[in-house]
Amino acid sequence: MCSFSQEIKALLALRGKSFHPSGDFQEKTPFWCLDGLAEEDVRGVMARSVCAKSAFELWGHGQTHSELRTSLLNYPSENMSPFMHKDSTYRINVYTFNKTLEFPDRIKRIDAMDYLPFEGTVSLKSPQHIFCLLEDYGTDPNDIPEHPNYIYFGRWIADGQRELIRSHSVKNRHFIGNTSMDAGLSFIMANHAKVNENDLVFDPFVGTGSLLVACSHFRAYVCGTDIDYNTIHGRGRSSRKNQKWRGPDENIRANLRQYGTEEMYIDVMISDASKPVWREAPLFDAIITDPPYGIRESTRRTGSHKDVTKHADGIYLESHVPVSQAYHLSDIFTDLLNFSAHHLVVGGRLVYWLPVYRPEYSEETVPLHPCLRILSNCEQTLSSHTSRRLITMEKIRKPEELDGLAQFADGRFSPYQGHNAFREKYFSGLNKRCIKEDNKAVVNGQ
Ligand SMILES: C[S@@+](CC[C@H](N)C(=O)[O-])C[C@H]1O[C@@H](n2cnc3c(N)ncnc32)[C@H](O)[C@@H]1O
Repeated sequence: MCSFSQEIKALLALRGKSFHPSGDFQEKTPFWCLDGLAEEDVRGVMARSVCAKSAFELWGHGQTHSELRTSLLNYPSENMSPFMHKDSTYRINVYTFNKTLEFPDRIKRIDAMDYLPFEGTVSLKSPQHIFCLLEDYGTDPNDIPEHPNYIYFGRWIADGQRELIRSHSVKNRHFIGNTSMDAGLSFIMANHAKVNENDLVFDPFVGTGSLLVACSHFRAYVCGTDIDYNTIHGRGRSSRKNQKWRGPDENIRANLRQYGTEEMYIDVMISDASKPVWREAPLFDAIITDPPYGIRESTRRTGSHKDVTKHADGIYLESHVPVSQAYHLSDIFTDLLNFSAHHLVVGGRLVYWLPVYRPEYSEETVPLHPCLRILSNCEQTLSSHTSRRLITMEKIRKPEELDGLAQFADGRFSPYQGHNAFREKYFSGLNKRCIKEDNKAVVNGQ
C-alpha cells in the first residue's frame, strides 16, 4: 500500500521538506525511521496524517533488548537530559505490533529499562513526557515469533489524526448517497493533493461532497459540480435505510455546517463534466474527485448522437429538451486529465480514483498527459477481479508550452493516443464489464 508514504511525502512537501527514510527502509513494515526532521515538522505532519498512528524521537533500537540497551547508552546524554531531569514527570508505554503482551510482561519490560537515567517522577495520568518501547513482531498473524523482530525506544512526539475517521464517518453525516466516499479515504485524498489553507479545490463529480468535507477541514475553499439535479439539490430518494425521501436541508452546505467549516463552502452546481463551464484559466489549486465507474451510478453525459439544432451563437432553441448518452470511461479520464491540465495552477495536484479490471491491468493503462506527472498510483482491492487505483498527478507545465504533441482538433491532448491503442480497448472492455457487474448487482438485489 503506497498511500501511506505518498501521504507523508505530500505533507512534508507542504512544509518544504523531503522524505528521507533510513537506509534499510521497507514500506510494508509497521515502523518507519525517517531522518533529518525537526520536531515542529513532525508535529505538522502528524496534525494532518490519517495513515500514521504516532511519531517518536528515536533514542535507540536493535534486534534484541541487549542491542537496544547498547544503542540507548550511546544516545547523547545532552539530548536525553531535558526530558529526564528531577523536576520532570514521565511515563513509559509499551506498544507491540502483531502480538498482545500481558500486563505483567509489560511491567517487566519497563522495569528492565532501569539503566536509563530517569530522575523525574512517574505520572501515569498527566506526564510531561511520554516514552515508548515499541516491539515489532512482523505482519503475519499466523506466524508470530516468540521474540520481537526489532525493538525501538523513543520519546513520543505526536499522534496522527485517525480520530477524524470516526468523527467524520458517513454513518453520522447529515447528507449521504450510495457512493459517498469513506471519511478516511477522503482525508487521504486531500493529503495526497497537498490541500492547504486558503486553497481553492474543485470536485467535478461532487456527489454528496465527501471530498469537499475533507478539504474544508484543512481550511481550503471548496466547490463542485455534478450532472445529477437531485444530488446537487439534496432531493429525491434517501440512501438511509429507514427513510424513503431526503429531508429538508440535506445538502452539501449542511454537511460542511455539521463539521463547522461552512465558511469554506463556495458552491456546487449542476454541470456535465464533459462540457466544462469554466473560463479558460488555471483556477484551482487542487482537483480531487471520484468519477462514476458505472457500478453504482450510470456514466452519462448530456448530448445526443443525432444532430441537435442550435442557434448560431451556440444557444439551444427554446424547444430543446436535453438528453443524455453514455459517457465512456476512456472519455471520462480523457476529459478529466485535459480539464486538469488547463485549470490547475502549475504545481497543483489532481487526485482521482481509476477503476481497474485486475486481470488486464498494467501500468500502461493509466492515462497520461504531458502537462501532468504521476506521483503515485496506489491500489485498493475491491474483489478478486476488480480494484480501484488512487492516482496522484501534479501539473508540471502549461498546455501552451506543448508543441507538436498529439492533440484533438479542440486543442486537447489524448491521454491514450500515441502511447498505446490497447488503453482505449481496455477502457471500453472495462466499461462493458462494469455494466455487466452492475446488472448482476441489481439481479442480486444489492
Ligand atoms: C462516484 S460518485 C461521486 C461520489 C462523491 N465523491 C461523494 O462522496 O458523494 C460520481 C458522481 O458523478 C456524477 N456524474 C456522473 N456523470 C457525470 C457527468 N457527466 N458530469 C458530472 N457529474 C457526473 C454522478 O451523479 C455521481 O454523483
